[in-house]
Amino acid sequence: MRKKIIAGNWKMNYTVSQGEDFLLSIIDTINTDEVDVVICPNFTMLDRFSDLLEGKKVKLGSQNVYYEPKGAFTGETSPYMLQALNVKYCIVGHSERRTLFGETDEMVNNKAKALLELDMSPIICVGETLEQRNSGEMFDVVEKQVKAALKDIDKEMVKRNVVIAYEPIWAIGTGVTATSDEAEDMCKFIRKTVLNLYDKETAECLRVQYGGSVNPKNAAEILSKEDIDGALVGGASLKNDFVSIVNYE
Ligand code: PGA
Repeated sequence: MRKKIIAGNWKMNYTVSQGEDFLLSIIDTINTDEVDVVICPNFTMLDRFSDLLEGKKVKLGSQNVYYEPKGAFTGETSPYMLQALNVKYCIVGHSERRTLFGETDEMVNNKAKALLELDMSPIICVGETLEQRNSGEMFDVVEKQVKAALKDIDKEMVKRNVVIAYEPIWAIGTGVTATSDEAEDMCKFIRKTVLNLYDKETAECLRVQYGGSVNPKNAAEILSKEDIDGALVGGASLKNDFVSIVNYE
């Protein structure tokens, strides 16, 4: 049985003290063993949160990383720097990074590899635009993204640490959610893609999240689906709604 993983992507919200106040207000209610809970705050909070989460079950995640270990890369953050702060998960290839900051499939692949080398988990985001869905291209688009992201990645690493988040771009921050059947169909397809790339065992280990306007009302239905192993939550993770989503059952 795959353990569900619910991650909060805080995006560019909260100062360190605001984030700390909010985290402390919810930490005891999300500190569970039932699901893996991950909080991905802005980089500025990672150091403080690393202390606050010490000894807790909630894991620390980052929203981005650069793939080089160190050097002249102004403004970037290396996987070693994240590892030193006890960061266990890192979102890569979020659609906002792909569309606003030019992140390519190749960069996503490099980032995933750099994280996996250090035994951290990339949460690899994939998903189609509304135009691509309407023209029926969504499976091709997502298959291409998954294959590119996993290029040259060893099966043991995939089994141990890779998480894929299916985030249809039209559902992110819009209040429009994919239906639970649409989400399930794509998450199943992603698992099938991984099966074709590797084998059944790897596909069965892989955790596939759904993301895009997940809220306390739709979480239980989405998370009841066989191939949906968790949620990547944006807006609702900044509020007490996140507690209800973590405790969706
Ligand atoms: P949303 O964002 O929950 O606000 O739609 C999800 C995400 O971008 O990961």
